[in-house]
Amino acid sequence: MDKNLKKILVYAKPYKKFISLNVLSNILYSFFGMLSFLVLIPMLDILFNVRPGEIPPPPRWEGITKAKAYLEQWLSHYWAQYVQTHETAQVLISVIALVLAVIMLKNMFGYAAMVFATFLRNGILRDLRKDLYRKILSLPIGFFSERRKGDTFSRITADVNEVQNTTMIFLEMIVREPTTILFSVVAMWMLNAKLSLFIFMFVPVAGLIISAVGKKLKQSSLEVQQVNARFFSHVDETLSGIKIIKAFNAENLFIRKFDRIQDLMYRLTNRMANRQNLSGPLSETLGVAVIAGIIGYGGHLVLIEKSLSPSVFMTFIALAYNVLTPAKNIAKAGYAIRRGLASAERVFEIMEARDQIPEKPDAISKKTFDDKIELDHVYFKYELDEVLKDVTFTIPKGYTVALVGQSGSGKTTIAHLLMRFYDVTKGAIKIDGIDIRDIKKKDLRNLMAIVTQESILFNDTVRNNIALAKPDATMEEIIRAAKVANAHDFIMQLPQGYDTVIGDQGNKLSGGQKQRINIARAVLKNPPVMILDEATSALDTESERLVQEALDKLMENHTSLVIAHRLSTIKNADLIIVMEKGRVIETGTHRELMEKRGVYHKLVTLQSFDL
Ligand SMILES: Nc1ncnc2c1ncn2[C@@H]1O[C@H](COP(=O)(O)OP(=O)(O)O)[C@@H](O)[C@H]1O
Ligand SMILES: [Mg+2]
Repeated sequence: MDKNLKKILVYAKPYKKFISLNVLSNILYSFFGMLSFLVLIPMLDILFNVRPGEIPPPPRWEGITKAKAYLEQWLSHYWAQYVQTHETAQVLISVIALVLAVIMLKNMFGYAAMVFATFLRNGILRDLRKDLYRKILSLPIGFFSERRKGDTFSRITADVNEVQNTTMIFLEMIVREPTTILFSVVAMWMLNAKLSLFIFMFVPVAGLIISAVGKKLKQSSLEVQQVNARFFSHVDETLSGIKIIKAFNAENLFIRKFDRIQDLMYRLTNRMANRQNLSGPLSETLGVAVIAGIIGYGGHLVLIEKSLSPSVFMTFIALAYNVLTPAKNIAKAGYAIRRGLASAERVFEIMEARDQIPEKPDAISKKTFDDKIELDHVYFKYELDEVLKDVTFTIPKGYTVALVGQSGSGKTTIAHLLMRFYDVTKGAIKIDGIDIRDIKKKDLRNLMAIVTQESILFNDTVRNNIALAKPDATMEEIIRAAKVANAHDFIMQLPQGYDTVIGDQGNKLSGGQKQRINIARAVLKNPPVMILDEATSALDTESERLVQEALDKLMENHTSLVIAHRLSTIKNADLIIVMEKGRVIETGTHRELMEKRGVYHKLVTLQSFDL
């Protein structure tokens, strides 16, 4: 069995009950479907005015092997009796009522089957999405820088939908259509074995031709999905970068790129859709060819051999057509299921992505920071180039350590490594002598708070944005944190104060205001270690002053790693680490480094901090 199918079945397991009910309903649906054709025979007989003669009751029951003959005679006997003892009009009404009743039953079970299948498919959709979302949140940062956002997005939306549709089709394919075929075939066989045999030579040939056409589909559908992902990514990038695009008059560049994606998509989807378009006409033509053959041979049996009554023959043709439709569906399902399995592969690719920053099963719980953080001969690379080389320094508890160096020298990378967004490639980072890879990730991240240059806010109330790390915080705690962050005053001036919804990515607020909400978030979390990565560098002088004040308060009584471009912050640091191209080249206090007249001295005199 296909491995992706197996994985989908795991998701179907909790809905076993619905599957059984669906299967049962479908079997009954197919059974009454067949019966609805058989009850046409007496109706047609009445219409054609064929009156049965005297038919004796069947002899004794002679075992299952003679069951067919017994049953036939039994039915004919009572039917003949009924016709002979009743008015024609009444017989006609009874027969019509019978047909209606059977059709009603068939449709009732058909509906029930769909209802159970709906519960199943929507259940699978829900569970898959939930798991996928959890998985996405559990994956390390590195996973996302490697792939396009749009790709991940289309996997959680379009691909999961595709999987859901496929389960539905699959369910129909393994129960409804085969049982419909089976019941029809059995009925046909019982009506006329010769004619049935004749038909069964045609159908498989037609089926083989149809399925051969579908073989190539999976390949091109994968391509379409890849282009689709590029399309999503592009729209996403456009919407989030719209200001820059306009400001740099780059509309045409983006339009050209978008047009290229659309043109490619046009070509690929045309190719794929036309291949699919072929399946309908092709199978219909083949279907009609089969019917024509049957009519030719059946006509011979009715008119020349006279071994078949017209009403039985007509019912027979109806039954044959009843086989054709599900057979056609099964052939079509081949495409759909292949497409669904391709989607499933993309979904499970994320679901099974290995967490490259794994937590050891025996990871240590660590709730306090007591002594120091050490970087011990740390090497690191994102891809091929070494971004950090032999970085060694210590942040003692209570110290403010400043990291300075030109843009690209690896400062932010150090912050990432401390939070364990990535793992070092060589060396170690230790907290109180314990390697951070041995500490529970949750505990490690609870020991730190980070404030970065770009403030990350969510489309929620101010209050909930601040309470991110502590959802059960009281209003007093939130207000206290906001006050420390110099945010309380402006929050009170918002239309609904702390309950104001700040819009997508906090777009209703100024840069400085957003940053102060970020700081309030860190204050409320109140971890022992604060990491500030150029927290003020995106701000104008006025909001910088307010934010800096807030940051100064934040750093009080905390151990801090400050990546800053402001000389005043650095000057007061207990220790300054100067970095260049991934290496630590100088360490010391402001005084020591100035006296040394090395790189730091040059940076200060040239004011060439990372601006
Ligand atoms: N996600 C990433 N993937 C690959 N390379 C990266 C990534 N992030 C940063 N880099 C590279 O690592 C180097 C150091 O970057 P960074 O730590 O951000 O420097 P700084 O914060 O000092 O400006 C740069 O050369 C940068 O291009
Ligand atoms: Mg940086």
